[in-house]
Amino acid sequence: MDLITALEGLAPELEKGLADARSLDALESLRVDFLGRKGRLAHIMSALPQLEPAQRPAVGQKANAVKESLTALLEERRLALEKALEAEALRRFDASLPGRLPWRGSLHPITLVTQEICDVLRGLGFDVASGPEVENDFYNFESLNMPPEHPARDMQDTLYVSDKVVMRTHTSPVQVRTMLARKPPLAVICPGKVYRRDSDLTHTPMFHQIEGLMVGENISMAHLRGILTAFVREIFGSATRVRFRPSFFPFTEPSAEVDISCCMCGGAGHLDGEPCRVCKTTGWVEILGCGMVDPAVFEAVGYAPEVSGFAFGLGVERVAMLKYGIGDLRMFFENDVRFLGQFA
Ligand code: DAH
Repeated sequence: MDLITALEGLAPELEKGLADARSLDALESLRVDFLGRKGRLAHIMSALPQLEPAQRPAVGQKANAVKESLTALLEERRLALEKALEAEALRRFDASLPGRLPWRGSLHPITLVTQEICDVLRGLGFDVASGPEVENDFYNFESLNMPPEHPARDMQDTLYVSDKVVMRTHTSPVQVRTMLARKPPLAVICPGKVYRRDSDLTHTPMFHQIEGLMVGENISMAHLRGILTAFVREIFGSATRVRFRPSFFPFTEPSAEVDISCCMCGGAGHLDGEPCRVCKTTGWVEILGCGMVDPAVFEAVGYAPEVSGFAFGLGVERVAMLKYGIGDLRMFFENDVRFLGQFA
């Protein structure tokens, strides 16, 4: 058989093969079989050197034409096949299947607890105020009855920005800012971030506090007690018992720390016969600091000596840990979605 005839036989053979090719893979094997480096066309052309030189150009031209038509056949089939595959995919597509839902985030537990506390206190008549996290020494310390060299400054492990500027160590400076801006009577709370140079299992350099302040005529310790008792019962349940323990803060006099009956064991100190790990068997947990605003603070803001008021400050992480039974402070800052998702 001469080479021209052999070449002419390729296209009809490829067409036969294409009729059975049902996938892009089958198409590719056909391409390799006919046009590949060791394919049929190459095989036929390997006989070219044995021809008379005068015959070679005609065979060469034929080979090129055949190669073009084989390529065209393959390409035509490829397009048809792709169309068919797409139509098949569409036929199988079930528009009634439920879609993949987007993953939904949720509020951070600290945000949730802050909102809840603020809601309760707003219900008791407090406005929500805020102040800067980078604070002047005057607001953070001096006006709160902590002059330079006051020993209470040591308790706070202050992060200094400069000599007279600090990262606020508590939300109490907002008391002063509020009183400088407003006249009594007033009742405000201030939620926010505070900073201390302290980092271990139970302390983080940044944490959250909520400050409270009520000033007016004849505001007494009884008001403080009534408001805080109502407040903790809203947050921790109506059976919660409240205990005021004498304490000291430079900006209040007298000062107290407030304990509530342990929300884990109900104040029994034991849970299912085991020692309660939250209150360490005492039945009480400390929840906040408070007191009657010290006259020196009123003096610093220019209030008349006849006014009276109370203040309190609480740690949001602490409330959240007690409320949700979270044992490890670090959970709040690691942002593990398996933890955060539980508050959705
Ligand atoms: N500022 C205090 C602290 O960070 C908490 C505090 C205690 C605030 C007593 C008050 C208060 O307003 O009356 O440790």
